[in-house]
Amino acid sequence: MWILGLLILGIGLSILLPSFVGGAWSPTPMPVVHKMLEYARLQPGETLYDLGAGDGRVIMTAGGLPGVRAIGVEIDPLRWALCKWRARGRANIQVLRENMFHLDLRDADVVTFYLSQGAADLLQEKLQAELGPGARVISNRRPIPGWQPQLVDEEFGLYVYVMEEQGKGNKS
Ligand SMILES: C[S@@+](CC[C@H](N)C(=O)[O-])C[C@H]1O[C@@H](n2cnc3c(N)ncnc32)[C@H](O)[C@@H]1O
Repeated sequence: MWILGLLILGIGLSILLPSFVGGAWSPTPMPVVHKMLEYARLQPGETLYDLGAGDGRVIMTAGGLPGVRAIGVEIDPLRWALCKWRARGRANIQVLRENMFHLDLRDADVVTFYLSQGAADLLQEKLQAELGPGARVISNRRPIPGWQPQLVDEEFGLYVYVMEEQGKGNKS
């Protein structure tokens, strides 16, 4: 009986805790994922990071594009495990169990996310510091404060940013 209790507690915590550090899980509908990747304009040799990978749908789709490396970061152990399982045998798809705020994004060509507005606000400074000129940021539903989007897709709820339009990053 106590094992069942622990299991329920674990699942409950995995649902609740991420909402305090970036946003609860809510999957992006697949047509929106495809639209995000269309705006990302990924080229062979480029790297995409999905911050808060959820069930891995963005990295699995991006990792199917020719020559693209896709990295998902997920704080919740259950969803991280699901992503790891889905990405098994796919050398160009990596899944990290980490807090995205502690991750080094300097090798990102594209960053995607679907998080709370509070997390988008906090990410602004980090993205500004770490992304290089030409990097694209595609935010699902959340505008990044103080940044001028290159494009707003109201139908799909997407904000598309390009780094040279936000000032130079300090990619080394
Ligand atoms: C709204 S879901 C989006 C999932 C996926 N990117 C998609 O578009 O379908 C947000 C995800 O971010 C994760 N998350 C929230 N805060 C995080 C943090 N600080 N670091 C890493 N992952 C986080 C949550 O666990 C959740 O799975």
